Amino acid sequence: MKRLYFILAFTVFGINAFGQKTNDQKASELLSKMTLEEKIGQLVQYSGFEYATGPQNSNSANVLNEIKQGKVGSMLNVAGAQETRKFQELALKSRLKIPLLFGQDVIHGYRTTFPINLGQAASWDLKLIEKSERIAATEASAYGIHWTFAPMVDIARDPRWGRVMEGSGEDTYLGTQIGLARIKGFQGKGLGNLDAIMACAKHFAAYGAAVGGRDYNSVDMSLRQLYETYLPPFKAAAEAGVATFMNSFNDINGIPATANQYILRDLLKGKWNYNGFVVSDWGSIGEMVPHGYAKDNKEAAEKAIIAGSDMDMESRAYMAELPNLVKEGKVDPKLIDDAARRILIKKFEMGLFDDPYRFSDEKRQKEQLNNLENRKFGREFGSKSIVLLKNEKNILPLSRSAKTIALIGPFGKETSANHGFWSVAFKDDNLRIVTQFDGIKNQLDKSATLLYAKGANIDDQDRSMFAEAVETAKKADVVIMTLGEGHDMSGEAKSRSNIRFSGVQEDLLKEIAKTGKPIVLMINAGRPLVFDWAADNIPTIVYTWWLGTEAGNSIADVLFGTVNPGGKLPMTFPRTEGQIPVYYNHYNTGRPAKNNTDRNYVSAYIDLDNDPKFPFGYGLSYTQFKYSDMDLSSINLTGNQTLNISVNVTNTGNYDGEEVVQLYIRDLVGKVVRPVKELKGFQKVFIKKGETKTVTFILTPESLKFYDDELNYDWEGGEFDIMIGTDSQNVQTKRINWKK
Ligand code: GLC
Repeated sequence: MKRLYFILAFTVFGINAFGQKTNDQKASELLSKMTLEEKIGQLVQYSGFEYATGPQNSNSANVLNEIKQGKVGSMLNVAGAQETRKFQELALKSRLKIPLLFGQDVIHGYRTTFPINLGQAASWDLKLIEKSERIAATEASAYGIHWTFAPMVDIARDPRWGRVMEGSGEDTYLGTQIGLARIKGFQGKGLGNLDAIMACAKHFAAYGAAVGGRDYNSVDMSLRQLYETYLPPFKAAAEAGVATFMNSFNDINGIPATANQYILRDLLKGKWNYNGFVVSDWGSIGEMVPHGYAKDNKEAAEKAIIAGSDMDMESRAYMAELPNLVKEGKVDPKLIDDAARRILIKKFEMGLFDDPYRFSDEKRQKEQLNNLENRKFGREFGSKSIVLLKNEKNILPLSRSAKTIALIGPFGKETSANHGFWSVAFKDDNLRIVTQFDGIKNQLDKSATLLYAKGANIDDQDRSMFAEAVETAKKADVVIMTLGEGHDMSGEAKSRSNIRFSGVQEDLLKEIAKTGKPIVLMINAGRPLVFDWAADNIPTIVYTWWLGTEAGNSIADVLFGTVNPGGKLPMTFPRTEGQIPVYYNHYNTGRPAKNNTDRNYVSAYIDLDNDPKFPFGYGLSYTQFKYSDMDLSSINLTGNQTLNISVNVTNTGNYDGEEVVQLYIRDLVGKVVRPVKELKGFQKVFIKKGETKTVTFILTPESLKFYDDELNYDWEGGEFDIMIGTDSQNVQTKRINWKK
């Protein structure tokens, strides 16, 4: 007990057990010397000009002068040892020499890019995901970056929303686990380490629930739904010590997230006791004027700072308006102090006061460019993100000595597209990308021939290349079609009302199919697409997302069987746009359809089968896995007992492979209706051909908890279905009774 008082005493007086001042104490001391304008300066963030990621409105002259006057706390989109050093030198000319924080969107890799995040989620491999962020942080920090605006942990059930590409899909449990892996990867051994960067949980909150899947659109839902589906990844991130949060553009139940006191101050900084800081999204403070929540930037600034948005990204409202708002007594100066303190503490934690240039190091930067180890990892990660949707005639894996292969489609020789939407567009990047054509060519035997025809453009009505493509296909023994949506057709401000192959790509596919040649269809996309005809008529389909720098090699590794694909869909694939939203963990309703074609007074469409095209958690392998001997430690439990679940998984095919074994539950009766399935666990296991592995899970009452209509988070006794399987539809079920 004495020890506790000892530590408390030190903490209260702002020194730690080693007699050093805490960062909190240092921030307080610095704050005491700062003018109001200097404090407000810490709350200001502007974008650099080279990689602007929003509607640019900075006048470069002002920004540079304001930095020198100590009126800027952070820059985003300034990268590179030299460039960041230049801006830092300006900041060090200010009266108190407070260094800048440099932020950037390090979303799926940095100089080595990795699969887009939805593709990464399809790997269901938390270790690979964490490692990818560790590499991204190492590369970005070598480029002078202190802070990434990631992970994006928005749960999303609507594939019309273009930003599904940067999230982890529709499931709260999977999204939470992946978000935590990302934060661990970015922040590594802790802020202050030279290869650790601040992470940022975004977009707080419920941005993925925009009405109609239309980006920036309103969100309106019960608090219960908010708590049950959208908040858990953020709560987990706060508990895990994520350095920062970013709020979202959308209004939530009528109040813009940027000034939503309930989620920012009452919940995040209050109930969750979060002590990092919140940055607005690009211009989102000023956007409360078009939202109709503020009559002008002054009122927007007042509402945002009171609600708990600490830093103003690019709306210019804070610097312009906060001084007067404080002088007029409309904003308590303590709020400015609190926001500035939160930001200063992070700068101390990052070691920027000890050495403002510690991340701007040309030598480290050179070492990180073209790091072959990172590329090797990227190649592995890409192949593990690919999902095999169909392989009916076992056309895959292809033989390397296949006489003639034709690669046909607009993505075969694309370079930058493979980086996906959220890659920082460094000029020399394309020189290093492995195209799909190159990847396949690299792996073919000398005796084989690889033909190529573009066949169609990504998104226009030009059919003039069809004839050449058909002729090329006729010369081949097997045709690999590479179709989908452009890499810049998903991402921010890229909502689509029609999520099919763009342009005339499907017509091209039909023309090639008429040749009767065996076809392998690769689909490149940042979201679930609708491709009904292809799904029904093409026997072999792989979903290749956008896989990053090593894309072509990752794809070829799967096509030729170096890697047996094991990816599983992190989002439900609808049959058509009209079926959206469709997701696996829906409620049962009072009239559930009995099967895929039941339309008799049930919750169904009269013109569409009920099941999705491909369900959540679905993905095939070149081998087959048989589930058997599912066993529970008990089917009658009471109170805080533990339920042990096991199942045998046998590899009955001809290839070693990885299988993602998924555990779902169903709470059959509740104080509020409960989903027909909830993912509560998964394990990715490698099983050699002919081998059997026993996979076990443990469930406790903690896993059974949910939010009731009064937002109480608890569990109720009763009957539960325990389900284990290879995807959310194909499961084995046992019923238990668990008394409270
Ligand atoms: C964008 C995005 C956000 C990103 C920020 C900085 O508008 O919404 O995710 O981190 O601006 O680029």
